[in-house]
Amino acid sequence: METYTALTAVMMLLLTASAAAATRCPSCGPTPVPYPLSTSPTCGDPSYRVLCDAASGSLSFPTLNNSYPITSISAAAQRLVIQPAQLVSGRCVTADLPTQGLQLNSSLPFNVTSSNTIMYLNCSQTLLNSPLNCSSASLCHEYVNGTAAVDGVCGATPICCTLWAWGSTTSYSIRVRETGCRAYTSFVNLDPTLPVSRWPQPGLEIQWVAPPEPLCGSQVDCDGNSTCGPDPADSGASRCFCNSGLTWDPTQGICVENITCQDPDGCGATDKTALIASLTSGIGAGLIASIVLAMLYKHHERTRKARERLAQEREEILNSNGAIGAKNFTGKEIKKATNNFSRDRLLGVGGYGEVYKGILDDGTLVAIKCAKLGNAKGTDQVLNEVRILCQVNHRCLVRLLGCCVDLEQPILVYEYVENGTLLEHLQGHRPSGRAALSWERRLQIAHDAAEGLAYLHSSAVPPIYHRDVKSSNILLDEKLNAKVSDFGLSRLAHTDLSHITTCAQGTLGYLDPEYYRNYQLTDKSDVYSFGVVLLELLTSQKAIDFNRADDDVNLAIYVRRMVDEERLMDAVDPLLKEKADLMGVETMKALGFLAVGCLEERRQNRPSMKEVAEEIEYIMSIATAKVAQN
Ligand SMILES: *[C@@H]1O[C@H](CO)[C@@H](O)[C@H](O)[C@H]1NC(C)=O
Ligand SMILES: *[C@@H]1O[C@H](CO)[C@@H](O)[C@H](O)[C@H]1NC(C)=O
Ligand SMILES: *[C@@H]1O[C@H](CO)[C@@H](O)[C@H](O)[C@H]1NC(C)=O
Ligand SMILES: *[C@@H]1O[C@H](CO)[C@@H](O)[C@H](O)[C@H]1NC(C)=O
Ligand SMILES: *[C@@H]1O[C@H](CO)[C@@H](O)[C@H](O)[C@H]1NC(C)=O
Ligand SMILES: *[C@@H]1O[C@H](CO)[C@@H](O)[C@H](O)[C@H]1NC(C)=O
Ligand SMILES: *[C@@H]1O[C@H](CO)[C@@H](O)[C@H](O)[C@H]1NC(C)=O
Ligand SMILES: *[C@@H]1O[C@H](CO)[C@@H](O)[C@H](O)[C@H]1NC(C)=O
Repeated sequence: METYTALTAVMMLLLTASAAAATRCPSCGPTPVPYPLSTSPTCGDPSYRVLCDAASGSLSFPTLNNSYPITSISAAAQRLVIQPAQLVSGRCVTADLPTQGLQLNSSLPFNVTSSNTIMYLNCSQTLLNSPLNCSSASLCHEYVNGTAAVDGVCGATPICCTLWAWGSTTSYSIRVRETGCRAYTSFVNLDPTLPVSRWPQPGLEIQWVAPPEPLCGSQVDCDGNSTCGPDPADSGASRCFCNSGLTWDPTQGICVENITCQDPDGCGATDKTALIASLTSGIGAGLIASIVLAMLYKHHERTRKARERLAQEREEILNSNGAIGAKNFTGKEIKKATNNFSRDRLLGVGGYGEVYKGILDDGTLVAIKCAKLGNAKGTDQVLNEVRILCQVNHRCLVRLLGCCVDLEQPILVYEYVENGTLLEHLQGHRPSGRAALSWERRLQIAHDAAEGLAYLHSSAVPPIYHRDVKSSNILLDEKLNAKVSDFGLSRLAHTDLSHITTCAQGTLGYLDPEYYRNYQLTDKSDVYSFGVVLLELLTSQKAIDFNRADDDVNLAIYVRRMVDEERLMDAVDPLLKEKADLMGVETMKALGFLAVGCLEERRQNRPSMKEVAEEIEYIMSIATAKVAQN
């Protein structure tokens, strides 16, 4: 009996040991391998495969056709840096040219981050027409000239290009080709004002998606804090789900005790008392405590001022004529509606702060936007939105229901638009997907959004420019009606006399090219961005997509080229073409030409938003007349 118990105990120990090994991988030589990276099928998460050469202790990162040495890993940030391919000895060509450069498997949870600055070398003439910066002032020339080894081989090749990856939404490849550029390198967080001699070593940063709970065959594969159960997101698979009271921590790969938000003030704020306590228990406690207190005081001052400004601003707006019925919500109502800013209510995070889904006492669904604490720019953007949205109220614009000022950060409450963004629909990230967007429906969406923008431009007094028109700022309700949202960057035309702003506005791929020349955004800049949205509706392609050839990365340039070659229909979404009859094809072409008109280089040649809305209405009348005939 006793032996039996002892044996069970030993077996339990062994099982626990093997279960622990099933999560984090052992070090590769001296190099630690953080979870979820996986060097063998028995450890880590198998979707996060890396290669280990135990003899040298070096890890490398496999891509579709090659592998690249990993130079650093930050598990907390879920990022790693690899060394890009080297030049072939004596030639301005990278070793991975035969496999067309670096290509990640886009089904795996890795992508190339926006912190990389990529230099393309030995490029052909056709690249001069691309969204990459291939001018003679391009930073890549400094790099070539300032790096003796590279200058020795690439110095004589006249064309090179630079790409700042910021603004891209997803990217999985750095393409080099015989007909494009034949070599590349990359730098992480490059400060272009530094001389080349002080640049970091080349590196390419790659990011991974936080891993889900580990897979299991049975309970044996899970540790004592989790239970093997079916995965609701992946039928057939089972995962070790944390026992109650514990939550999955994807950076450590274990279940940890629930951290609940104790702070009465605000969205997901951390517990500052704990921070002070842990700091003050060390050496120099008094000094540290006073620094922390000074920081907290400053922070408090900033937020107090921001709150006062918001209250004052809101007062003015509500007292002025034309204000819509915006309500003043209390902090208590907001907290109740968001279940105390529970993480599972988080709809999105941006530079301005966070957006939560909320349910009011009467059952109304709302979207609640919180400015980031102490972020002056975020607070300004929120104030700006209040100013604008309290003045306009149009069927095609998302409605502001009210604000809340008795919490630490400014908060806005909007109507909740059920059905996600146009971008998500076009990219098939919604259950109904892109198939639900028939040609007639797409025209209706284009028309609604154009009407909303035309209203801002011509019916609001003074006119309002949206300045960040893009498919992810167009929301769809349950009936797929469009509503323009996100007025964070908008400006009232008359308060913006200077027009000059130094930092980049808008989004890459949608930004008016004239902005680069005179730093002014006008109503016609919205028309340009809207032209790109029309192309997305027509092609279901992304505004910027590094999986297209280098010179076609930018959708506007790609479709314009297709129009020049009289191949517009080749760019149209195959799902639309499949169902189109002759009139369908004609109306698709008509919308394509309208889009190209919106994308005219010179602003005065672009139509006004009102003309765009009217033109779409005309195209719709032809398209629906056809439907009625059939
Ligand atoms: C540039 O690329 C071309 C095409 O691959 C190659 O033939 C040429 O040798 C390269 N130039 C240099 C200087 O290596
Ligand atoms: C890269 O690998 C993929 C998948 O293994 C293969 O289909 C493709 O042809 C390869 N590409 C090149 C240029 O070798
Ligand atoms: C890409 O990854 C998926 C998921 O692991 C895998 O099924 C597929 O075979 C991979 N593709 C290639 C070309 O290696
Ligand atoms: C290209 O980069 C250079 C140097 O950073 C800059 O001066 C120039 O304006 C850029 N050109 C374009 C078209 O973006
Ligand atoms: C290349 O660098 C040298 C000094 O490092 C400088 O004198 C020269 O003007 C540079 N050439 C070009 C074309 O930038
Ligand atoms: C990479 O993927 C993450 C997670 O899906 C996403 O948040 C991020 O925007 C992507 N970044 C790029 C540059 O594609
Ligand atoms: C712990 O957090 C999870 C996820 O947020 C939640 O489902 C669970 O009810 C919480 N358990 C306790 C005891 O608070
Ligand atoms: C289970 O969770 C507790 C609390 O987080 C922790 O102290 C303990 O080490 C965990 N046990 C295992 C087997 O991971």
